[in-house]
Amino acid sequence: MIDFDNVTVVYKNNVTGLDKVSFHIDKGEFVFLVGKTGAGKSSAIKLLTAEIKPLSGDVWLDGVNVNKLKNRKIPFHRRKIGVVFQDFRLLRDKTVYENVALAMEIVGASKKQIRTEVPNILRLVGLSQKTREYPSSLSGGEQQRVGIARALVNRPSLIIADEPTGNLDSVTATSIMELFEEINRQGTTILMVTHSEKIVNDMNKRVIELDHGMLIRDDKKGVYNIEN
Ligand SMILES: Nc1ncnc2c1ncn2[C@@H]1O[C@H](COP(=O)(O)OP(=O)(O)O)[C@@H](O)[C@H]1O
Ligand SMILES: [Mg+2]
Repeated sequence: MIDFDNVTVVYKNNVTGLDKVSFHIDKGEFVFLVGKTGAGKSSAIKLLTAEIKPLSGDVWLDGVNVNKLKNRKIPFHRRKIGVVFQDFRLLRDKTVYENVALAMEIVGASKKQIRTEVPNILRLVGLSQKTREYPSSLSGGEQQRVGIARALVNRPSLIIADEPTGNLDSVTATSIMELFEEINRQGTTILMVTHSEKIVNDMNKRVIELDHGMLIRDDKKGVYNIEN
């Protein structure tokens, strides 16, 4: 599903973001992307979402060469990916229901689809009792559940999460990880950046480590093993 083929990213100031990185992720995998700050994790994610282009090499998602996409195709490409953010990025003046419904409205879903899908997704993330609440009245963990619901509601084949538990306490983080695990069990591929040693070691999933833009480790059932 994802292929990085000898990918190099160089930013305008000549800083290397990624250095000849190659890896393959199959449909349905759960992969942690780890490494120190500046290692290139966000660069890898931005390539997948077509926010940046590589200097050389190719990035493939579902058989599409992402860096060769025409600009007008990029919005459609992005619909294949649900993104979950560390800081949730919810709209403060919209309810839980409206935050999730908006993601469907943007892609032109019908009112009927929205009326059935939003409650389904909110049930999956455990927020059926909070649909009329505003983000400010929710806990951090609940806000992230809204973020996950919004990422999932259009049924993307891939979920990308950049430090999704970075703003949560460890008990809440564990419950959010259980939710990601359930989503993965239902077939969605997950690529997650994290600095949490506990999460990576608890989950025992594939671990890809970057260092100074280079891929230095790819373990099938990995541990964290990085000094922060
Ligand atoms: N927009 C940018 N302009 C210049 N350099 C950047 C930019 N984004 C990232 N970098 C540099 O690229 C390298 C990799 O950064 P990044 O992919 O953000 O790493 P990580 O997410 O692992 O912290 C770092 O040296 C960083 O300073
Ligand atoms: Mg980053």
